[in-house]
Amino acid sequence: MDKIVVEGGVALRGTVQVSGAKNAALPILAASLLAEGDHAVSNVPDLADVRTLGRLLGHLGCEVARDAAGRKVGLRVPATVKPEAPYELVRTMRASVLVLGPLVARWGRARVSLPGGCAIGARPIDQHLKGLAALGATIHLEHGYVEATAPAGGRLRGAVFTFDGQTVTGTENVMMAAALAEGETVLENCAREPEVADLAAALRGMGARIEGAGTGQIRVHGVEALRPLSHDVIPDRIEAGTFLVAGALPGNDVFVKGCVPEHLEVLVEKLRAVGAVVSAQPGGLRVVGDGRPRPVDLRTAPHPGFPTDMQAQMMVLLCLAAGTSKIVETVFENRYMHVQELLRLGADIAVDGKTAVVKGVPALSGAQVMASDLRASAALVLAGLAAQGSTEIQRVYHLDRGYEHIEEKLAPLGARIRRVKA
Ligand code: EPU
Repeated sequence: MDKIVVEGGVALRGTVQVSGAKNAALPILAASLLAEGDHAVSNVPDLADVRTLGRLLGHLGCEVARDAAGRKVGLRVPATVKPEAPYELVRTMRASVLVLGPLVARWGRARVSLPGGCAIGARPIDQHLKGLAALGATIHLEHGYVEATAPAGGRLRGAVFTFDGQTVTGTENVMMAAALAEGETVLENCAREPEVADLAAALRGMGARIEGAGTGQIRVHGVEALRPLSHDVIPDRIEAGTFLVAGALPGNDVFVKGCVPEHLEVLVEKLRAVGAVVSAQPGGLRVVGDGRPRPVDLRTAPHPGFPTDMQAQMMVLLCLAAGTSKIVETVFENRYMHVQELLRLGADIAVDGKTAVVKGVPALSGAQVMASDLRASAALVLAGLAAQGSTEIQRVYHLDRGYEHIEEKLAPLGARIRRVKA
């Protein structure tokens, strides 16, 4: 297994370019199942998760190809597919469940493996299933698979449905299904993440009639058929946020090019609260880490709250603060796996349930650490950059699921970072 080795304590200076958003690209590629023909999606990051979804779409019967320049994915969706997502693929990536809504909406039935738990929490999909049931699908759970069947005639029907709690992929799954349902659907208590809005924009480009995506209420007027996709994915706000935190580390000065400042407002507010100087400049955001960070408290929440996907990275900054910060993780129940590893680097953090109390230390010291999930891995890279000496991060495959060549992006900023192939 590859590992990443970082020699820390070197100032970062320069420009880093943001890639397309993983969590927008995944549902958008899944949405291709809603229409027969040749689809084109650009600004798709070249990531392990995107390749896994490509394999799943291939298994269903689609042809998937990435163009030589690497930014564009072409898909050919046939008239009929085998509507089954097997355990082997869903197990490697939970977002595979995003094919459920499109499959049952277009072919009247789908058989998709239940994802099971994962490192950051139980992550049930009950809201996806309740929403599809509201649209008339019959849902059976058997042998570890969800079997969803549309009513007689094969078409889902519009309905009013309120999510019990906000779910990003749940909102996306039900919205995609509603796009081909008969009549109007009103979805309440929807996730408001920019990725939901980008999926809606992609669906509208296919001819779907959707309003309100990005707010708590989404209205979908079902249509009989859609045309193939042609869409440019939004920039990745979590990758951008990770680089912004890198820039906010003491002594650094980084221009994060290609990010959308409106998607990063709460994070920028917190970075300013710790004392970083963040300025909007043409084409992106510049951040300067001005001395030792100040402590701040934060609480993760669905968008527009502080993103859970930035909690681990922000914790690294707070580990170095002059004072004590409190973090409350409200979205996932087990998202503090990075804490044990940060302790190995000399951090002072105590976790009690959802709360982490982070007492700042003057410096971290490099050590061997293990990545446990995607964002935890990114946090360990940041910690390695800030630490004195050498940090070796094992299980880099987690990082490769969501960050495109992170070592190649950080090295031009001056980071002494390299991948050691297994
Ligand atoms: N939940 C339920 N029932 C459901 C669905 C969700 O109880 O049917 C709960 C979850 O267990 C969790 C909360 O609701 O406690 C929020 O989960 P959500 O469904 O919003 O998460 P997700 O859609 O599975 C997406 C991202 C995650 C990101 C979360 C939260 C994708 C592909 N994944 O997951 O991204 O953390 O939203 O913002 O969009 C990552 O990129 O590292 C990542 C984990």
